Amino acid sequence: MYIHNRIIHTLLIDLEMYQEILENLNIATMSESLEAYGLITDGTIALNEDRIAWCGKRDNLPSQYQNWPRRNLNGCLVTPALIDCHTHIVYGGNRAKEFELRLEGATYEEILNSGGGIHSTVRETQNLTEDELVACAIPRVDTLIAEGVSTIEIKSGYGQDKITELKMLRAARKIAQLRPIRIKTSFLGAHAVPSEYGSNALRYIEQVCIPALEQAHSEGLVDAVDGFCEKIAFSTVHIERLFGRAQELGIPVKLHAEQLSNCGGTQLAARYKALSVDHLEYANEADVVALAESGTIAVLLPGAFYFLRESQIPPIDDLRNHCVPIAIATDCNPGSSPLVSILTTMNLDCTLFQLTPEEALAGTTREAAKALGLSDTGRIEPGLRTDLAVWNVSHPSELSYHIGFNPLQERIFGGVQWKRQGRTSNGS
Ligand code: NIG
Ligand code: FE
Repeated sequence: MYIHNRIIHTLLIDLEMYQEILENLNIATMSESLEAYGLITDGTIALNEDRIAWCGKRDNLPSQYQNWPRRNLNGCLVTPALIDCHTHIVYGGNRAKEFELRLEGATYEEILNSGGGIHSTVRETQNLTEDELVACAIPRVDTLIAEGVSTIEIKSGYGQDKITELKMLRAARKIAQLRPIRIKTSFLGAHAVPSEYGSNALRYIEQVCIPALEQAHSEGLVDAVDGFCEKIAFSTVHIERLFGRAQELGIPVKLHAEQLSNCGGTQLAARYKALSVDHLEYANEADVVALAESGTIAVLLPGAFYFLRESQIPPIDDLRNHCVPIAIATDCNPGSSPLVSILTTMNLDCTLFQLTPEEALAGTTREAAKALGLSDTGRIEPGLRTDLAVWNVSHPSELSYHIGFNPLQERIFGGVQWKRQGRTSNGS
């Protein structure tokens, strides 16, 4: 019986062994190199199970890989699979009614202060079960997967109580069991002050937020701690209380900062060596210097800028001049960015913030990985995960150029190939 089991086990392992040479392709490695996009034309990639074994010019393929099975990609472009490093994709309901109100003149702040906005999504989210939340999120996740996304960060923050915050994080983690996707979860208990706490946000941080964080952490549900530092949400004093506890627990932090005004969140987050500071429309050069010194990634969210009809553009030139890495993300959420397309996000970043298409692709690959503290994905280099996207385009700038068109041919996730559903081989 023992031997029988061992044979079966060995057979299973053999069946799962995956070695393949991808050839006749161009590779945007997104490695930090002098070449734009780290581009390799007429390239070859050797895949060994879930890792990249080798990549380079076809003619330079080392002899040890010559006998591996080969697959012709017919001149397609291969990039690292895309990473959406800032989403609130798990939530209940929607806020289309508030969209109408805003178009009639109400502001985002007015709607939130009158009990709507984030508070209305909190009520909808509290009313759903964990499985219902998963069911609501899955179509949005599938949409991102169909655009070559391999990793999604998902925040809590529509709970405002311990039970719902934990329910959101569990729902987020469950998605990775149901779909071929990697999920990183951020605890965003400090998203909006519940009305019953009035002006006493610190009491909410101490009585609800920190205990919820401690429990979520003890259940292994928290990869990072996030907050919303803004006049209509939490001050630097409140956020610092939370970051202090995160630091004691050894959890990295990130922050929504300078989205609607300059409140000092960027400087605070930089002091805590945050993984990322996100939004940054109202950040100034001193804030950017602080990011540069702390090695924090700037995450730009053009979906919220566009949907809230903001006019203040983040300090792009300062970020470039001080060499702060720029990541970009959908910020998918029901209130400020109901955007479920990473490719459209890249286009918006280029058209609204004048990022180059190369910066946009780096922002959804190499720099997005850094914003999540991941060093095993986001570039095509030996030793990294085989998280790849194969595109039916001739140049990587096309990924930022199209609007509402998806040229994904296939996605390889941890060495497993996923063809786009509903797409025939001639691309029609
Ligand atoms: O990233 N800025 C705060 N949080 C979200 C908006 C959440 C909401 O309106 O539901 C954001 O824009
Ligand atoms: Fe956000």
